[in-house]
Amino acid sequence: MTTVLSARGVSVSFGGVHAVVDVDLDVEPGQLVGLIGPNGAGKTTFVDAISGFVPHRGTVTLDGVDITGSSPHSRARRGLSRTWQAIELFDDLTVRENLTVAAQHPSTLATLKELFARPIPLSQGIDEALEAFALEELADATPTELTQGQRKLVGVARALAARPKCLCLDEPAAGLDAHESVAFGRHLREIVDRGTPTLLIDHDMGLVLGISDHVVVLEFGQVIADGTPGEVRSDPSVVAAYLGSAADELTAAD
Ligand SMILES: Nc1ncnc2c1ncn2[C@@H]1O[C@H](COP(=O)(O)OP(=O)(O)O)[C@@H](O)[C@H]1O
Ligand SMILES: [Mg+2]
Repeated sequence: MTTVLSARGVSVSFGGVHAVVDVDLDVEPGQLVGLIGPNGAGKTTFVDAISGFVPHRGTVTLDGVDITGSSPHSRARRGLSRTWQAIELFDDLTVRENLTVAAQHPSTLATLKELFARPIPLSQGIDEALEAFALEELADATPTELTQGQRKLVGVARALAARPKCLCLDEPAAGLDAHESVAFGRHLREIVDRGTPTLLIDHDMGLVLGISDHVVVLEFGQVIADGTPGEVRSDPSVVAAYLGSAADELTAAD
């Protein structure tokens, strides 16, 4: 089976800051891959690089196709869908309309061509995404009527509505309470099991270690560990990287 997302030797520097250094990461079909690491480790920059928002060295392939050097729009069109740490929803549109806007990638000729070449029943992706996060009853609400947790779910549902080949989520559970976070994890696992491979970045160690098939740990831009949640949790370099407040979370995540 073809690896869904494959990054090889991805590096990003901002002036003298080596934010991402020679990172290899694979997301296989059916997999939920967690990407963790202390603040400033380079997690967001890595997603910015693979989704085409910052220039990088190394190569990125999606479903076996080399997308290195492609624009963010082209990568999205090919099926790499991402969310941002700060959610931006259109407050004057309903939840359903927010998802529709994303699923249609409006206003570019290239996209229209793509849509004609590969007709997608758009409403199906939207309905599936709403259902995946149990948001059906909020479909006609506007984002201002939602809790912070619900807004975060809409942001993820919007990325899913485009029926991506690979979903990249940057801290989707930040701001969720413990109960919402557990429910989110359950929904996300189901999405992956139903056929959307996902790369999950989150600070919530319990969430990431609890639902991921494979975990990659970054520190100072470099991969310091890589394995199953169990392997990563007991890796001395990971424990050392998390010395301080997060070390408790790491062990509490059993
Ligand atoms: N646009 C930028 N310009 C300069 N430095 C940046 C920029 N974006 C991120 N950095 C730096 O790159 C490093 C990695 O940041 P980031 O990817 O946001 O980490 P994380 O998401 O793991 O918290 C940090 O040292 C950060 O200050
Ligand atoms: Mg970040």
